[in-house]
Amino acid sequence: METTYRAVNWNTPDNDYAGMFWEQNIKQFWVDTEYIPSKDIDSWKSLSPEMRECYKKALGGLTLLDTLQSHTGMPKIIDHIYSLQNKAVLSYMCMMEAIHAKSYSTIFTTVATTQDIEDIFAWVQNNKYLQFKASTIDKYYRALEKPNVSQEDLFMALGASVLLESFLFYSGFFIPLWLCGQGQMVASADIIKKIVADESIHGVFVGLLAQDVYKKLPNPEKSKQKLEALLHELYDNELKYTEEIYTDVGLTADVKEYVRYNANKALMNLGFQELFEVKNVNPIVLNGLNLETTQHDFFSKKSTNYEKSTEIVHLRDEDFVFDTAVVV
Ligand SMILES: [Fe+2]
Ligand SMILES: [Fe+2]
Repeated sequence: METTYRAVNWNTPDNDYAGMFWEQNIKQFWVDTEYIPSKDIDSWKSLSPEMRECYKKALGGLTLLDTLQSHTGMPKIIDHIYSLQNKAVLSYMCMMEAIHAKSYSTIFTTVATTQDIEDIFAWVQNNKYLQFKASTIDKYYRALEKPNVSQEDLFMALGASVLLESFLFYSGFFIPLWLCGQGQMVASADIIKKIVADESIHGVFVGLLAQDVYKKLPNPEKSKQKLEALLHELYDNELKYTEEIYTDVGLTADVKEYVRYNANKALMNLGFQELFEVKNVNPIVLNGLNLETTQHDFFSKKSTNYEKSTEIVHLRDEDFVFDTAVVV
């Protein structure tokens, strides 16, 4: 059968949320190069070697998740979403995932040597817990690599994506937020807080898509159990990962509590009940998130500490005259 190509029409809403999510995503736009993490060099030097190691590994792990989400997660999901407006929102998010993945390098380049950076990326490739996280989620994305997929496959891929966005990032976010809550590595944390704000809206949006698919499932209870089993499998891995990178800085128990808190948030984004008992999230981490320059709630506006935006170079007509010999 011949394919009919549809054009996206924003004048008639596809649903009652795509337009709102598009607007919110645009309001949150940022790029890493407009922040100045080099202000943290003195703070970095004041950290213990163990703390620096923990911080670098946390950022390495976060880079892996954003790379997976940008290169595989979002593109595979986009293919199987019918609404062209929802596809557009996902495309925008996909672009932001690439900015997130790059932004950790912007922090690395100001605090670590080239050799240090290469060591961290090699560590990411060899760390069994990080590789388990990536391969477990990727399996659900790869199940979408065919023209027609079952509603359950689509639900599981969307569910896995919400677990990545709303749950798996937080063992990594903990250390930059914890340091920032005490006035350390504050400039780099401005970047991290922008990423947290984005992951927050991504988790809510993809969660809504998952809930739409869930309503159409032939056996929703079975699919819910499958997703909860996946969450537990990933949770066990998160505990081990947390022990590996946080034991030397004495923060393991606090990070595990934060991991459970965010696992509950992922479940809520999917429309399910919380599964973990959470007593106390470390107040320093919450303090790190709530500094007034940046807000992480779903309806946050652009951060006000967009320092380099005053260094604007206005373009002139002659900037658009190219040497045709070098334009391909
Ligand atoms: Fe991201
Ligand atoms: Fe995301």
